[in-house]
Amino acid sequence: MKIIAISGSLRQASFNSGLLRAAQELAPDDMKIAIEDISEIPLYNADEQAMGFPASVQQLSEQVRVADGVLIATPEYNYSIPGGLKNAIDWVSRADNQPFNGKPIAIMGASMGNLGTARAQYHLRQIFVFLNGMVMNRPEVFVGAAHDKHDDAGTLIHQDTRDFLVEYLKTVRDWVEKVRRMNA
Ligand code: FNR
Repeated sequence: MKIIAISGSLRQASFNSGLLRAAQELAPDDMKIAIEDISEIPLYNADEQAMGFPASVQQLSEQVRVADGVLIATPEYNYSIPGGLKNAIDWVSRADNQPFNGKPIAIMGASMGNLGTARAQYHLRQIFVFLNGMVMNRPEVFVGAAHDKHDDAGTLIHQDTRDFLVEYLKTVRDWVEKVRRMNA
């Protein structure tokens, strides 16, 4: 099972990117998680799209298309998702065969506050309603006080959260398989 992972943060020591790296380490044996970089994606512009999709967008769209599922870790910026993440989703949503359509999706998030990006995650879920992404409802992953759970490099060091991720990723695997059967 191939999962493509997207971090909504471009920050080197990002807690959200750290969550994804931990997920890579802790995934079940039959799940491979590849992290895609969205930092090279230009601002969406329909004129630019008309001249041809940028290489970075083609790459991300193709990765989403061929993946069995998508895992997103998003920060919360002003009670919503970061502009860079929204921009990447907007670009991919214009690609051929709308790559998120019917795709199993799992959402996580980490922030320093108590709510662990809950507000941003519900915005992200709303976006995938339009794109017909098959977002897993539960369990939700709200990593609050993220600065106490990651080291200075953004590596997830909080054992309870790591243990939770192990079980969470098994549920993600089951969800991907369930949606695959549903789409068949
Ligand atoms: C934030 N931050 C933030 N945190 C939060 O819990 N709710 C919010 O609405 C916001 N708003 C916000 C806006 C902007 C522009 C920035 C830059 C930051 C704090 C944010 O959660 C914190 O910087 C995280 O560390 C970002 O995630 P990464 O980069 O560590 O993955």
